[in-house]
Order: sequence, then C-alpha cells, then structure tokens
Amino acid sequence: MSRLVILDARLVDGSGELGRGDVVVEDGRIAALGEGVGAGVQADRTVLAGGRTLTPALIDLHAHLREPGQEVKEDLASGLAAAAAGGFGTVVSMANTSPVVDEPGLVADLVAKADALRVGGRGAARLRPAASLSHGLRGQALTDFAALQAAGAVMITDDGIPVADGRLMRSACEYARDLGLVVQTHSEDPSLRGDGVMNEGIVSQELGLPGNPTAAEAVMVARDCEVALLTGARVHIAHVSCKRAMQVIEHYKALGAPVTCEVTPHHLTLTDEALRSFDPVFKVAPPLRTADDVAYLRDAVRRGVVDSIGTDHAPHTRAEKELDLGSAPFGLPNIEVALPLLYTRLVLAGELGETDLLRLLQDGPAEVMGWPAPRLEVGAPADLVLIDLEDERAVEPERFRSKAKFSPWAGERLRGWPWLTLIDGEVAFEAPEAVV
Ligand code: DOR
Repeated sequence: MSRLVILDARLVDGSGELGRGDVVVEDGRIAALGEGVGAGVQADRTVLAGGRTLTPALIDLHAHLREPGQEVKEDLASGLAAAAAGGFGTVVSMANTSPVVDEPGLVADLVAKADALRVGGRGAARLRPAASLSHGLRGQALTDFAALQAAGAVMITDDGIPVADGRLMRSACEYARDLGLVVQTHSEDPSLRGDGVMNEGIVSQELGLPGNPTAAEAVMVARDCEVALLTGARVHIAHVSCKRAMQVIEHYKALGAPVTCEVTPHHLTLTDEALRSFDPVFKVAPPLRTADDVAYLRDAVRRGVVDSIGTDHAPHTRAEKELDLGSAPFGLPNIEVALPLLYTRLVLAGELGETDLLRLLQDGPAEVMGWPAPRLEVGAPADLVLIDLEDERAVEPERFRSKAKFSPWAGERLRGWPWLTLIDGEVAFEAPEAVV
C-alpha cells in the first residue's frame, strides 16, 4: 500500500470551506481527512502544507495537446505535464490534430499513451479525449460517434473550425443526444468572420487590420442554441468572447435550451488594445474583444451564467507566432498560468469570490460533462491541488512544461500558483519552491 499525508492544509471544495486539517491518501484515494488525522501517521511521503489551500484538482474541458502529428508544438507528455503544473487533474484534448482524431483507433491510442504517462507518477494529468464531429474536420460527413465513445471519447467537437452546415450540426446533435455525448461548438460564422485577424472595431480600423465582428459569433451561437432546443442535445458553447454572444446564450438558457457555456482566461483578462503591439501572441480565435465585452463576460461569470472556464490552451511554435499577424496561427498557451492569472485579476481584484472561481474550474466543468462533482471526502480519488495563495511570482514562460515557452502575460506578477498536484494520489507536479 502507498500512503501520502498532507499536514495542516486549508481545505476547500465546491461545497465550501472545510476548515483546516490533514489529508491521508492511501492507494490513490482519500482515506481520512480532518483536524489532526495525519498526526503520527507513517507515510511514504509527508507534505507540510503550512496552511496552503488544498482543493480538488481542476478540470479543463478545452486544451489543444497537438498529438498526433503536431508534436513540434506540444505532445501528450509536455501538455499533460503542463496541465498538472497548472493545477489541472483532468484535461479534455481537442481533436484538431494531424491526423484529426476522427477514428476510434486514434482515440484508443491517445488513451493508452496518456495512461502510460501516468504509470509511476511521471507527471501527467488524466486525459479524456474529445473526438471530431466531422471526418477530417471537413464539415461534410459525421464521424462514428458510438464507436468513438466506446474507444474513450467523452466529447464531440470540431473545435478550431466552425461547423458551417446547419444540417450536419442538427444530425450531430441527434446522434449525440441519443448517446449522451456533449457537443462542444466553435461558434463563429465563417462568412461573417471572413479573413479577420482581430476584433472588428475602432482598434482594427485604426490599425488597418481585417476585423472579425462580434456578429459572426452571435449569429452562430444563436444557430447552435436553436439546434440544441430543436434536438434536445447537450450543446456546450466554447470560448464565448463577447457581450452579444453571451446575451444570446442568456436568452436561450431562459427558454430552457440544454446549452452550457465556457469562457477562457484570455477573454476575461485581455482586450483588442493588445493588438496595437502587432504581436501575434495576441492572435486568437475568437478574437480578443473590447473592454466592454470583457466587463460583460465578467458580469456573466458573477451572475452564474457561465458554466465553466476552459483554457483553450493552444500551443504553437515560437517561429509560427513570430510570423506577421496575417500569417501567424490563432491561439496562445495558458494552461500553466490560468489559475494564478484568474486568482490575481479576478479574486484579488475583488471581482469574484475564491470559491466561485474554483467552482468554475471544478464543479462547473464536471456538471457540463455529467461527471460527479469533485469533492474532498473519504473515498474520493486523490486528484488534488495544493495552492499557494500568498507567494507572488512573475510569469516565466521559459519555466513552462509546455513546449510553447511564451505568454501574453510574461513578466506579470501573479499570486495563486499551484504548489503540488496529485493525480490518483501520485505527485504529478511539485513547484521547485516546494521541494525542500
Ligand atoms: O485560437 C485558437 N486556436 N482557437 C481555436 O479555436 C483553435 C486553436 C488552435 O487549435 O490553435
């Protein structure tokens, strides 16, 4: 039997504050928790938490891990290690790889590789892969959802590419509904989006750059919500970036449509003003919007309209991101800074409660997927993260586990860094500062 003891932590989960206490982990599960339960217990490893915050490991329903085929950007080992370093215990990987994850064999390969990465606590979060909605992301023919699900796919999505054909989206939702699968959307109308490289507005006009209007997103969100209403399928709207799209979602939620939605750390903290630098690190799809949009998204988060925060961690090579704005790919890496970024910019700024933030990274995503709410309780899997809420440290991309060693927040001083991440009771990440 393996045993690990965490002494003197502040215990918090989606049910609230559980006070200060110890946690005893045996064979990957929580065996005891509470004040003094760890005192004198013989263990393979004892962690002195020193009052740091212990909470269930976070869940990310949206990360691009680039395997198979784009391992120059990221692979399962680097991406899942980056996730663990960010405090995430479970990650849903996107299917827009090369080849696209559109066959059961590819799903099974990913699951087997990720399982192997966790053997012996080699530092990887759990993988729950998504599979694509259409073959090759071509938006023409549906993949075999039942076979993909049987192979281990937990979500269906063409994320990265919008499903332009409404009839295909409808069929996808009908099959997904019958199988109990969540369909995640990348809701942007391709014709309205055109060749926009940033938000269409005053800044794009001043810079003379092609803009992507919020209408492109709002129109497609409306279509996707209508299809959810029509079919009864569970539709999760990914990376909502603007007020108009969020208002559409509010409208459909009020009608009882089975839709949920996600916002990202970047859409909650950056605006299109960042593009004045002409730095493609800020080029992302959907684009960074205006301060007004960011304020609206934050308000929607506070009002409970937003179901989950997903990172949309989208690593690329530095060479690709050093091309001009027109040619550089969309996407930015963020899985290792998401928690401290949001803790510092939202919680410490007084805009959101700490437990509300955690809920959007724990119970929220679990609910979207129909998974049990992660809890600190006896018998629960020991997927845990110990967070240091006091230590302030700058974002140092060169320290990232991700292969994408650059960041829109490089140099920013943040608080709320993960200190230790356990997956199945094994140490998957330990901050260098934590190693005594
Ligand atoms: O900016 C983005 N990058 N948005 C997406 O939806 C896809 C992602 C990627 O795959 O790089």
